[in-house]
Amino acid sequence: MQYVKQRNSIIAILFLALMLHACKNENRMPDRVTFTEHIAPILYNNCTSCHRPGGTAHFDLVTYQQAKNSGSALAYVCRQGIMPPWPADPHYTEFVGQRTISEHEIRLLEKWVLDGMAEGPADKMPKLPEFPTGSLIGKPDMRIPVQPYTLPANSLDKFLIIKVPFELPRDTYASVVEFMPGSNNIVHHVNGDMVEYDFDKKKNVFEGDRIVDMVNDSTIKQAFEKLGLPNDDGTYPKLKKSVVNYLPGVYGQRYPEGIGGFKLPRKGAFLLNDLHYGFTKDKAITDSSYINIFFAKTPPNRPVEEFQLGTIGISPVLPDLVIQPNTVKSVYSKFTVPQDISVLTVNPHMHLLGKSFKAYALQPNGDTIRLISIPRWDFNWQYFYTFKHMVKIPKGSTIVAEGVYDNTKQNLNNPFTPPRLIRDNNGSMKATDEMFQFIITYLPYQAGDENISLDPTAK
Ligand code: HEC
Repeated sequence: MQYVKQRNSIIAILFLALMLHACKNENRMPDRVTFTEHIAPILYNNCTSCHRPGGTAHFDLVTYQQAKNSGSALAYVCRQGIMPPWPADPHYTEFVGQRTISEHEIRLLEKWVLDGMAEGPADKMPKLPEFPTGSLIGKPDMRIPVQPYTLPANSLDKFLIIKVPFELPRDTYASVVEFMPGSNNIVHHVNGDMVEYDFDKKKNVFEGDRIVDMVNDSTIKQAFEKLGLPNDDGTYPKLKKSVVNYLPGVYGQRYPEGIGGFKLPRKGAFLLNDLHYGFTKDKAITDSSYINIFFAKTPPNRPVEEFQLGTIGISPVLPDLVIQPNTVKSVYSKFTVPQDISVLTVNPHMHLLGKSFKAYALQPNGDTIRLISIPRWDFNWQYFYTFKHMVKIPKGSTIVAEGVYDNTKQNLNNPFTPPRLIRDNNGSMKATDEMFQFIITYLPYQAGDENISLDPTAK
């Protein structure tokens, strides 16, 4: 017996040594790094979902020549953690669909540049993966075009409100509403609500303008009137917040059947109230985006709820968000949850002076639940981060969100040189005013929630 045991452990040790050896080999730096053998696979796995023809980035990283043209910038943006875009620290908390590139891959990119960016043998070139078209998550049940919009040549960033009205034969339920940008990749982001009409209160949901430019229409009320949003008697219909959001490369979030989703009224409109178009160069660009609706088989029995800490939220920003020029300022906001909740997503929000963000929950027993850490704030990539499994936050826990703002000239995103006083302006979305918000979507807790996977790709 003794002998058998010993032999087994010797075999185990040998096996372990072999495994370690194999791993080490896999991570060994090749003597010569080439595009076809080493770099193309990295780009195809981590970058071409956006950097390809028809992708959301404005240049492609598909061919040898394209990669070579970008050269050391590729290695640089990866080393700096700018690309692939995923500002959240994956060592703090993990989320669905997170994009991370390994240290080994970054070193390969760096060595490729140092070695002179060789092309490598043609027969080693991998095939470009196939990417979904029309929808990122499946075959929609209904598609509604967004009114096309033409940006003239040399136009600056634009923020528009766009109405996308619809009428359905009967009340239905949606599991997901997905925004698909037009093929010109000029849409930066979208934040959309849904207008719900009582059937008898609005004769024609299609009347009124479809598009309003926020610069020209000074108040939201004026804009809403121009869009013909009010009921026929002048009262306002119900608004359901945040039913359709878009950021390049972000999938519409599909939850397990019965969770999330919402009722679609027979008469309604999506209100893309913060559609951000980027700038154009020497050519005019017309965008033809559309909205995909996926119906739910059953009415949702657990609708998703939402609250937000900070600016115009349920807990104040402390101290006041007033950022003197040439200073770095820390603020926080705290909220104690009155019931057990199961958190689905978190969305930190700051503007251009943001430097870092962190949020966690302190339980009554003293333990900490990590929520998210963004060590290097990136204004361009503000995701609704979805947890892989719901996170239970017990009643009586205090959620703490902490933000740091950099109003010095070292902050390259500072909208002013020299820096000026910047403050919270009652939730003004203008990038030159600041905000501090932490948005949480959740369900009232039910036993077993921690085990429900929110990752539609997980087996
Ligand atoms: C989710 C989509 C997405 C993925 C994935 C992605 N990128 Fe990007 N990338 C973009 C967008 C969009 C921009 C343009 C940013 C802008 O216009 O401000 C960009 C910009 C860049 C730039 C220019 C940086 C600059 O400051 O102008 C480089 C270089 C780059 N990406 C490299 C990469 C590499 C290398 C990878 C893979 C390791 C990658 N990207 C993955 C979307 C993506």
